[in-house]
Amino acid sequence: MQKTQSSDAKDFKTSPISVPSAPLRCVFSFYMATVELRELKKSYGNIAAVNGVDLLTRDGEFLVLLGPSGCGKTTLLRMIAGFETPNAGEVLIGGEVVNELPPRARKIAMVFQSYALYPHMTVFKNIAFPLKAQRVNKAAIPQKVEWAAGLFGIGHLLGRKPRELSGGERQRVALARALVREPSVFLLDEPLSNLDAQLRASARDELQQFQRRIGTTTIYVTHDQVEAMGLGDRIVVMRGGTVRQIGTPKEIYHEPADSFVARFVGSPPMNLVQRDGYLLGFRPEHFLPKGVQNDGAQMLGVPFLVARIEYLGADRLLYGTLGGSFEGQKVIARLPSTVTVNIEPQTSYDFFVEQKELKFFDSTTELRISSRPL
Ligand SMILES: Nc1ncnc2c1ncn2[C@@H]1O[C@H](COP(=O)(O)OP(=O)(O)OP(=O)(O)O)[C@@H](O)[C@H]1O
Ligand SMILES: [Mg+2]
Repeated sequence: MQKTQSSDAKDFKTSPISVPSAPLRCVFSFYMATVELRELKKSYGNIAAVNGVDLLTRDGEFLVLLGPSGCGKTTLLRMIAGFETPNAGEVLIGGEVVNELPPRARKIAMVFQSYALYPHMTVFKNIAFPLKAQRVNKAAIPQKVEWAAGLFGIGHLLGRKPRELSGGERQRVALARALVREPSVFLLDEPLSNLDAQLRASARDELQQFQRRIGTTTIYVTHDQVEAMGLGDRIVVMRGGTVRQIGTPKEIYHEPADSFVARFVGSPPMNLVQRDGYLLGFRPEHFLPKGVQNDGAQMLGVPFLVARIEYLGADRLLYGTLGGSFEGQKVIARLPSTVTVNIEPQTSYDFFVEQKELKFFDSTTELRISSRPL
């Protein structure tokens, strides 16, 4: 009796949660893991592609790496996956340093920027390929393939060849193929970049729902700030091989750590105007004509000479220059369609920003600084 009890206890600790249906069993056996980077560096010749990155994901998090072309996003992902050896620093997965582990041993799946399916293989064989390479028991393969295909709604396409699929369907095959090994971390390098705008929006939505369902820690690379804002639990903004800011979409948008982040996130970008030794920033949607702001708020008032107007349906964008002590500096105002006040080009108006919406940045270091007297 004593013996049975202790062996039960042992089984309980080591066996995965037992659930009745096959798809759920697969889902439940996903390992969750955090990714941590410590002072990670990688140079190519004298180009510092990644120049000292520290990062810690949360378990099950959807983390987005956002930054302009060439800022080191792909290099960073490739180091996490083990395809690139860092010059310095450490990569930890699930709390363990994996620098010396080959990609296969890291329990990571990566979908590359330019993913390629095997053209002569059916969808089924494409998805099954990593399992075969891993020598998974043959009898278990069909069930795993059907499960992965089911997650992306491509179960009915298993008999087709890649050329018989749409771009969006191919993309989903690539995602299913990456996921079939049940990775503990999912690395996605601009996986939607080959899709047109509409497909991209729906694929983004699917991907997010899917990630929420399986809860696998995901690092998603994009240079599209709209995509980053929509997808990320948190966003890592990179520039020139370094991290400029890590935060929730809201923090990144409303409390940018420096003037680079302020300009990179948001469309049109934040207005930045020169003052003595600092930059004053305000978002286009906070720059409004008289009478639109909250009553009693502290305001900065500036004359605004409107040069050009763009009607975008939901908004009007006004391009122009400031007057007064900001003479000649270019800014953009964004008026929602609910603001119906008549505005004509080549005309000057009194515009206002609530003081609480003003951001201050050091002109040399670009870093956010505390408010200055105006
Ligand atoms: N194998 C390589 N050899 C030499 N330089 C490289 C190599 N791979 C990347 N680089 C350089 O390192 C820098 C970072 O490249 P990386 O591919 O990581 O950028 P990225 O942020 O992914 O850009 P994109 O958004 O265009 O994909 C770039 O300056 C790039 O030219
Ligand atoms: Mg890249």
